[in-house]
Amino acid sequence: MRILLTHIKELLQVRNIHQDKISGADMADLPLLKEAYLLIENDLIADFGLMSELPCFEIDQKINCEGRVVLPTWCDSHTHIVYAGSREQEFVDRINGLSYEEIANRGGGILNSAKRTLETSENEIYEQSKKRLEEVISQGTGAVEIKSGYGLSVEGELKMLRVIRRLKENFTLPIKATFLGAHAFPTAYKENHQGYIDLIINEMLPKIAAENLADYIDAFLETGYFSVDETQQIMEAGIKYGLRVKIHVNQFTAINGIKTCVAFDALSVDHLEIVTDADIEALKNSNTMAVALPSCSFFISIPYTPARKMIDAGLPLALATDFNPGTTPSGNMNLVVATACIKMKMTPEEAINAATINGAYAMGISETHGSITVGKKANLIITKSISSFYQIPYAFGSNLIEDVFINGTLISK
Ligand code: NIG
Ligand code: FE
Repeated sequence: MRILLTHIKELLQVRNIHQDKISGADMADLPLLKEAYLLIENDLIADFGLMSELPCFEIDQKINCEGRVVLPTWCDSHTHIVYAGSREQEFVDRINGLSYEEIANRGGGILNSAKRTLETSENEIYEQSKKRLEEVISQGTGAVEIKSGYGLSVEGELKMLRVIRRLKENFTLPIKATFLGAHAFPTAYKENHQGYIDLIINEMLPKIAAENLADYIDAFLETGYFSVDETQQIMEAGIKYGLRVKIHVNQFTAINGIKTCVAFDALSVDHLEIVTDADIEALKNSNTMAVALPSCSFFISIPYTPARKMIDAGLPLALATDFNPGTTPSGNMNLVVATACIKMKMTPEEAINAATINGAYAMGISETHGSITVGKKANLIITKSISSFYQIPYAFGSNLIEDVFINGTLISK
């Protein structure tokens, strides 16, 4: 099957030479072609170029993209899409003055979702999660990482990871599974942290590895959650099972965790709302992608990741949603890109680099996704007719997406 997109107003993120990530000042450059064509052959990008140089192709279908922008789909490298129920009462409690920490301390927060996950069947969790995934695909997401972490027991974590596996089986976009057993200490282990860590290491990890249920391992490295030492034990064990490290860190406090994550050659460190100069130094010359989650900052009113400071220091930065029932009940990457521009002072070029190629890197798929490159998967967003791609963050409340292609196939709405 060959589909030719013609008269594309702007074809964004065009990379002829493979680049696994874009860092620092280079993020300001978003290579694009005006008045372009793109050829899809089966599931891949087969060719692209200027309309004035369009070769004569044998094709099955032609789509006129006049006035429209085409770009790679968003790569959302940090989500918790698999969960049961919702937590809108906590949202109202926060409006009435309680903090995220206060809500968590009285049994809300992660433990609230863990309780609901325990009470809900695997099938029902799958149905709820499937709807969320379908929604984010229609919003332009073409690759997604999903974490466990609301099970917090052997059976609960396996249940979540099996739901992720089922999503992988039934959807064509790439899905990466991350084991986040170390999301919070369950109430029974509040005074026995080592007991829960042993459960993760000796009971959960062997079973997860035996069923090949996870690609990555994560922990919530944060004051009141997992300390640097506790995180270290869990990561060491995960690495032995072949899991690469991706960590929640520096969301509320900086406790010198980033250095440890980099020492584990983490694929990504995520959140980073509070970042010290030492943290930035630790990330320099590493393989670790910094991932900012601005819709989390927006929703729970915490500081935004200091993107300018980090990019100006030469670091690469990715953007992701953090879609979860507590801190970010939204998986809309368009809103993330807009918020990054509006609140973090990233330029549209930087934000789109962060949400495509750098997002792909942060989930280990930049060989195949995240840019318009011959041989990469034809996962594409076609916008409605717009004046320029700057509209994407500018018109932050409008849905500018007309069509989404995953593996060369148009996803019907
Ligand atoms: O990434 N920070 C830790 N975990 C989630 C929130 C979890 C929740 O509140 O359910 C996050 O923001
Ligand atoms: Fe998260």
